Amino acid sequence: MSPTTTGPRILVFSGSARTGSHNARLAELARRALAAAGARPHPVNLREFALPLYDGDIQAAQGIPDAAHRFADLLREHDGVVIVSPEYNYSMPGTVKNLIDWVSRIKPWPTIGVNGLLMSASPSAVGGHRGLIALRVPLEGIGARLHPEMFTLAFADKAYGDDGELADAGSRDRLRRLVSDFLDVVAATIHYRQSRELVTEG
Ligand SMILES: Cc1cc2nc3c(=O)[nH]c(=O)nc-3n(C[C@H](O)[C@H](O)[C@H](O)COP(=O)(O)O)c2cc1C
Repeated sequence: MSPTTTGPRILVFSGSARTGSHNARLAELARRALAAAGARPHPVNLREFALPLYDGDIQAAQGIPDAAHRFADLLREHDGVVIVSPEYNYSMPGTVKNLIDWVSRIKPWPTIGVNGLLMSASPSAVGGHRGLIALRVPLEGIGARLHPEMFTLAFADKAYGDDGELADAGSRDRLRRLVSDFLDVVAATIHYRQSRELVTEG
């Protein structure tokens, strides 16, 4: 399918912004796959949402920081989110969890019913899968509807060809198919919401 100006709007979030990040690189491949499948991807990264460590006293004295509200607004403005996050010590990076913690203070939760697809890249043999299992817990706890299948890229430091694409054809196909499956769910959700609106109005 060719790129479109009417396809679903998908936020693409990289949980690492460091120079040379494997996850930011994978997020770029996800962006390309989404665009090729007819969606409108919008890439953002963690550095755009710098936040203090969550502290109830900060919230009481200063309210919820603007960066958390901006991220919440982005979730509301999009039809889905792809999160590409490193695994740190068998879990998610504290920075990613801190963002989730701040966003969870906003009510109603901007994550409720949000379709999400999780991905990770790691130089290790496991590819960050354990980090994604951990990441599912708080996101599903605040109502996100996460795609059951996830994409993990093992040996990420050796996974790319000279053209910047994944060197392994099987991995390229898996990424393309997973993004396509995810977009089917997003489209079904949009259709369901539109049908409900018609019923409510009718
Ligand atoms: C604090 C820390 C903990 C890490 N723990 C893990 C881990 O549990 N599993 C793993 O596969 N890699 C782990 N790594 C290695 C990361 O996968 C690797 O640094 C990766 O490149 C980080 O993602 P990025 O390239 O997108 O920044 C860890 C790295 C750091 C800095």
